[in-house]
Amino acid sequence: MDTNVQKRRESKKSLRVKVISLGNAEVGKSCIIKRYCEKRFVPKYLATIGIDYGVTKVQVRDREIKVNIFDMAGHPFFYEVRNEFYKDSQGVILVYDVGLRESFDALDSWLTEMKQEMGSQANMESIIFVVCANKVDLTKRRVVDESEGRLWAESRGFHYFETSAQSGEGISEMFQAFFSSITDMCENGGKKPPPEVSIGFTKEQADTIRRIRNSKDSWDMLGVKPGATREEVNKAYRKLAVLLHPDKCVAPGSEDAFKAVVNARTSLLKNIK
Ligand code: GTP
Ligand code: MG
Repeated sequence: MDTNVQKRRESKKSLRVKVISLGNAEVGKSCIIKRYCEKRFVPKYLATIGIDYGVTKVQVRDREIKVNIFDMAGHPFFYEVRNEFYKDSQGVILVYDVGLRESFDALDSWLTEMKQEMGSQANMESIIFVVCANKVDLTKRRVVDESEGRLWAESRGFHYFETSAQSGEGISEMFQAFFSSITDMCENGGKKPPPEVSIGFTKEQADTIRRIRNSKDSWDMLGVKPGATREEVNKAYRKLAVLLHPDKCVAPGSEDAFKAVVNARTSLLKNIK
């Protein structure tokens, strides 16, 4: 084959991207990356000094993606070191600890710092964000629930994942969605493709309404196992309520689905001690 043609094909297939991790010190940024790249977890806290850099290769559809990961230190002390690494990022992993409300409240100030440092480059249309609600394995100390985190993320057009670097929960799903969105954006000339909500509702909302219509009983409707606890019922309810609330969801059938979910929760809670 003509070597130029071959080169063009190869360069179409391979992509090089830069991603950064942001969030308060000790929320688990380095551990999330380590869990994904090295499939292991280190319980001892080793604060990142300024910045850690690593490269990994991932496959998205028919493309090989070379990912340059800049793992930032969360401590304010390292501001001067990390501030120059914001530029040219296509992806941002925003992390908070579900057991520390201040780490969730700090997400806005991380966005502010990033925008400040990127200056005129800070075009939110050209950056994919994923929010990790981390340390979900520590259920007893959890103070920021899923609906609150999801709403913060999704209302800004960011992905939201519940993760645990300790158990591995949500980690590969999060990175898969993250890299796939970055690839979509690159293939769309560096701009995020129009969100699914341009049709007024998302695929997730539509699928959920269909599932609720076809459910066989109240347990099934809420997506919990028969015999689930009050806490599990309420958690499932809150997730569906955020997704289907008539103020937020205009998908056909959402109002009926929302009412059905409210009724299912009421009838289940009546019978759970
Ligand atoms: P800086 O580098 O200082 O900004 O912190 P970081 O956000 O990189 O935190 P790091 O990944 O070093 O983790 C901080 C501490 O939290 C360590 O002791 C980890 O073992 C622990 N940790 C991280 N993720 C999890 C998790 O999902 N569950 C639990 N239980 N502990 C975690
Ligand atoms: Mg770190």
